[in-house]
Amino acid sequence: MIVAFYDTKPYDREFFGQTPGEDRVAWRFHDFRLNATTAATSKGAEAVCVFVNDCLDRACLEMLARGGTRLVALRCAGFNNVDIKAARELGLSVVRVPAYSPHAVAEHAVGLLLTLNRKIHRAHNRVREHNFSLGGLVGFDLHGKTVGILGTGKIGRIAAQIFRGFDSRVLASDPFPSRDWAVKHGIEYTDAQSVLRSCDILSLHIPLSPDTHHVLNERSFAEMKRGAYVINTSRGKLIDTTALIAVLKSGHLGGVALDVYEEEEGIFFEDHSGHLLQDDELSRLLTFPNVLITAHQAFLTREALAEIARVTVGNMLALEKGTPFLEGTELGI
Ligand code: NAI
Repeated sequence: MIVAFYDTKPYDREFFGQTPGEDRVAWRFHDFRLNATTAATSKGAEAVCVFVNDCLDRACLEMLARGGTRLVALRCAGFNNVDIKAARELGLSVVRVPAYSPHAVAEHAVGLLLTLNRKIHRAHNRVREHNFSLGGLVGFDLHGKTVGILGTGKIGRIAAQIFRGFDSRVLASDPFPSRDWAVKHGIEYTDAQSVLRSCDILSLHIPLSPDTHHVLNERSFAEMKRGAYVINTSRGKLIDTTALIAVLKSGHLGGVALDVYEEEEGIFFEDHSGHLLQDDELSRLLTFPNVLITAHQAFLTREALAEIARVTVGNMLALEKGTPFLEGTELGI
């Protein structure tokens, strides 16, 4: 079976190459992304394997269907880049990997906070230049601080438990609270506004939707304590970047750690070091000493990549055999 693989990165080749059953698949790895312009390259492939920045709109899906493709396999959880309705009308199945490693994302969120708070990134650069001074490196204990968790799904629950391990007080908000879990781990549920007002550290673990777009904005930042830290490993558009820059300039926030950025598409996942950065808001964010940014890498652990490859290859083999796709992976049915 031929599978056209788009936006391929070296780690994709490595992990898909180690997955049992992958030798039954003839992979056509492409470094470029799939969209209506590049879709002709899928001709003859029974399936395409895509990531978050491939654009599978109706025009692209029509080309895939015309070229003989029957399956779109997303190697991620989010599917906002696929026109599911059009796919269904064209008879294309769409599968995704709903959960690969919530631990990977939660641990990265905490890692970002520790790095930013204890200024480990700055200390590392200093020491490499044989500057062993400690000026400007004062952080704070997480012990006894109040951590706010917005969203206690798979990732938020693990992040909350890790913070409890530091003996932080954890306040959480979720329209569907996990009450038994909260009692077991000493986590207190309250409303989102109380979380915002009370926390020293706020970590976002909610999906992006029309309801949560810019959930952190000028008004919500103003509600937060002076000196509070914000961590976002969820989706860039949860934060109004213009308001974030204003509140950083005013000195109201203590620090901000981001793995996602509102306008990351076309910037993150690629090496732009040889070009001038054209995004003025990202450029401004990078000038703040109390802002730490990683380029959407929270998922990037060996365990997560192995799971993404296992589920995706499993679905390819199901297509080949004509058996049902792995449970919970098919969209739009
Ligand atoms: P999940 O679906 O298990 O949990 C999301 C939780 O948020 C649910 O419990 C839901 O009830 C809650 N929620 C929804 N709207 C809310 C609101 N307005 N206030 C409070 N809670 C709300 O999702 P999961 O797997 O925990 O993922 C969370 C986020 O992490 C997603 O946005 C996902 O896109 C992002 N993510 C980021 C990755 C990265 O590499 N940076 C990798 C994987 C996921």
